[in-house]
Amino acid sequence: MGQGPTGKPKGLFIKTYGCQMNVYDSERMRDVLKPLGYAPVDTPEAADLVVLNTCHIREKATEKVFSELGQLRRMKEAGGGVMRIIVAGCVAQAEGAEIMRRQPAVDLVVGPQSYHRLPEMIARASRQTGDRLETDFAADEKFDALPKSREANGPSAFVPVQEGCDKFCTFCVVPYTRGAEFSRSAEAILAETRELTRQGVSEIVLIGQNVNAWHGAASVHDGLGGAWGLGRLIRQVARIGGVERIRYTTSHPRDMDDALIEAHADVEQLAPFLHLPVQSGSDRILKAMNRGHTAADYRQIVARARAARPDIAFASDFIVGFPGESDADFEATLALVGEVGFAQGYAFKYSRRPGTPAAGMDLQVDEAVKDERLARLLVEIWRGAQAFNEAQIGKRMPVLFNRKGKHRGQALGYSAYMQPVHVEDGAALMGRILDVDIVGATQTSLTGRMAAMTGRTTGTLSEAIA
Ligand code: SAH
Ligand code: SF4
Ligand code: F3S
Repeated sequence: MGQGPTGKPKGLFIKTYGCQMNVYDSERMRDVLKPLGYAPVDTPEAADLVVLNTCHIREKATEKVFSELGQLRRMKEAGGGVMRIIVAGCVAQAEGAEIMRRQPAVDLVVGPQSYHRLPEMIARASRQTGDRLETDFAADEKFDALPKSREANGPSAFVPVQEGCDKFCTFCVVPYTRGAEFSRSAEAILAETRELTRQGVSEIVLIGQNVNAWHGAASVHDGLGGAWGLGRLIRQVARIGGVERIRYTTSHPRDMDDALIEAHADVEQLAPFLHLPVQSGSDRILKAMNRGHTAADYRQIVARARAARPDIAFASDFIVGFPGESDADFEATLALVGEVGFAQGYAFKYSRRPGTPAAGMDLQVDEAVKDERLARLLVEIWRGAQAFNEAQIGKRMPVLFNRKGKHRGQALGYSAYMQPVHVEDGAALMGRILDVDIVGATQTSLTGRMAAMTGRTTGTLSEAIA
């Protein structure tokens, strides 16, 4: 475990909000801080250093940060002021100066592109010299400068392929908090994947704010020639021994090219699952959102993907109450949901974000109307999820087991469609992808029985995790 230069371990508590990129970043902060003697502890009370890795996407998420900081300040004072508090992530990026002003108990503010600078920042803070705010943008530097080796944390691992966004949807803060799109090199991504599989990881989740906008230089020779897009990268990842399941998230409809859809037809390990946010079913609203596609374009992508891979399932994000959204616009969203039949859906009330174009638009929708639309949309989403889950009963499907259940012998895992799956007889198989016969379904999960062990038992390196 982490030991400081004096030999005494220091407690580190990182609390993560927001998207997968933040989850990844938190893991990497842990890696960066390890050589300084910081080892994870279970509660902030036990920590010498607390990091809040924050999310700015909706107003509620941001408010949470300030209330959390109030609690941490009291904790810090109760402990005689030794605890260090760092605010990282997208709120740090967007409101760094404001945080320093409103909450003096915060020692450092660090934006998403600067985590590799944490050691030097912490050293400066203890000497009480230099800046306590670091929010420069340099995504290329970030990935190069983070420690090359990373510790796997279970059978599934996030591998970032790109960061940032150039799409500028009119409601969204991400292009401002994460900066311009930056694609990592194929070599770096493949090297990281190889290292993870050596540690027993069997599921690789390629992540990015717009993961399918990834584009690479053709310096890795795969005999295909031409430009690199995500479809081609997935083929290369699939060739790495030990990679049993590949997922990617989150995609943008505008970047669903033929090569990526073809990968769904041909790459055996690629999960038949696509999280492809549509946001709205109304062309008028999609246009005002600057999404760059119509509802018909979206339906066409769904049809193309289903033609390539008939068992593919879709998930989406939706926003209700975007400025100017009429009853008819909202009905168009409901109609799309009914038609596509999403396996999962995430619905949000539009939240006005400072500095984004939509925040200044006329015809902001009443909160009560948003509430009502959200409730109606959720009913439709849950209906779809229930139908999708019930349709899995009687099927045999590969499940990645990653947790023990509450009672003896019970194991939990998740399917390629991301449904939690419970089995009563699988506790010894942690970390492995194994076939399960599905016998029951609810809106949110499946139950199953282990298929005969003569079935697929491809957990090559996974015993290491047990
Ligand atoms: N890059 C992804 C999503 C990033 S944010 C994409 O392009 O789809 C995750 C989800 O939060 C979005 O899909 C959207 O549904 C929601 N969201 C973003 N900004 C929002 C806002 N201002 N109000 C409500 N929901 C928002
Ligand atoms: Fe935000 Fe749109 Fe970029 Fe997604 S594509 S991160 S919703 S601006
Ligand atoms: Fe939130 Fe930033 Fe991710 S705003 S959703 S943590 S990119």
